Amino acid sequence: MNKNSVLNTIFLYNLHIGMSIHNKRTLIKILNELGSILSFKIMTHSDGWIIELQKNNKSYLIYGYNFPNNNAAASRLCDDKSGVYEVLTKHQCPAIPHFFFMNPKNPNSIEKNITTRANKLLQQYRKIVVKPNNGTGGDCVFLVETPTQLKDAINKIFNRFDYLTISPYQNIKNEYRVIMLNNKPMLIYEKIKCNGEWRHNLQHGANASIVVDKLLTTQLTKLARMASNVININFSSIDIVRVKDKFYILEINSGVMLEKFALQSKDNYIISKSIYKKALESIF
Ligand SMILES: Nc1ncnc2c1ncn2[C@@H]1O[C@H](COP(=O)(O)OP(=O)(O)O)[C@@H](O)[C@H]1O
Ligand SMILES: [Mg+2]
Repeated sequence: MNKNSVLNTIFLYNLHIGMSIHNKRTLIKILNELGSILSFKIMTHSDGWIIELQKNNKSYLIYGYNFPNNNAAASRLCDDKSGVYEVLTKHQCPAIPHFFFMNPKNPNSIEKNITTRANKLLQQYRKIVVKPNNGTGGDCVFLVETPTQLKDAINKIFNRFDYLTISPYQNIKNEYRVIMLNNKPMLIYEKIKCNGEWRHNLQHGANASIVVDKLLTTQLTKLARMASNVININFSSIDIVRVKDKFYILEINSGVMLEKFALQSKDNYIISKSIYKKALESIF
């Protein structure tokens, strides 16, 4: 072992500390079960955050919950809530507005004072949601009604993220998630938020309730299909909100995370497994 490989080993060892939860992911359990059905071998890296599937001398990498079904640009775009809003809107696809802000400390920033523009949005809409432009799981998402709250939210977000987005607050009647694969809906569920919580994230106690109503399924599929076509994304989770009886895209996730959903019931686990199976079949 030369010096570099020793250093590499130490580095990799350090990288793994604090990430010991990934190997316990339901996704890994499901992929282990699918391996015998679809004839692939599975190998994990970075303590389970990166999953490598080996089939017919080829390897397929899953990064977090991002599958090789999507092209890199489409995936990156989905990590940009403001960018998705802008592209969708220009294609007449209804979406909830999201306005982009870069941390003024970022060397690429040309807007050195963001407070004026942010406060203007607060004055205009009175109630706004301030969140990381590329966040997930409802983490660091703030409801803001005063300039003091705004300043506090901006500071908290820029402590951890380089970009944030401001979205006018919507009185959301329902929030749904559509899992799309190659333009077909695989699963549609409503996120029923828990009492005393304003965010619809399963990570914040919301429950997934599968949508069975035919008309609703048709309406949600139509919008999800339009959005996935515009963004050019093959495998994704599309969040749609109903505001005053109209549907809008809230965000699109290029990763398909079904952890909480799969653990809700035995049936949900089977559904999750069949979705991942179809996604893999389409890339093999
Ligand atoms: N403009 C908004 N109006 C009302 N609620 C919002 C708005 N934006 C986000 N939320 C609420 O916050 C939750 C998390 O926001 P979201 O944009 O989905 O970020 P994340 O990627 O962290 O899930 C949503 O599920 C929704 O309940
Ligand atoms: Mg969300």
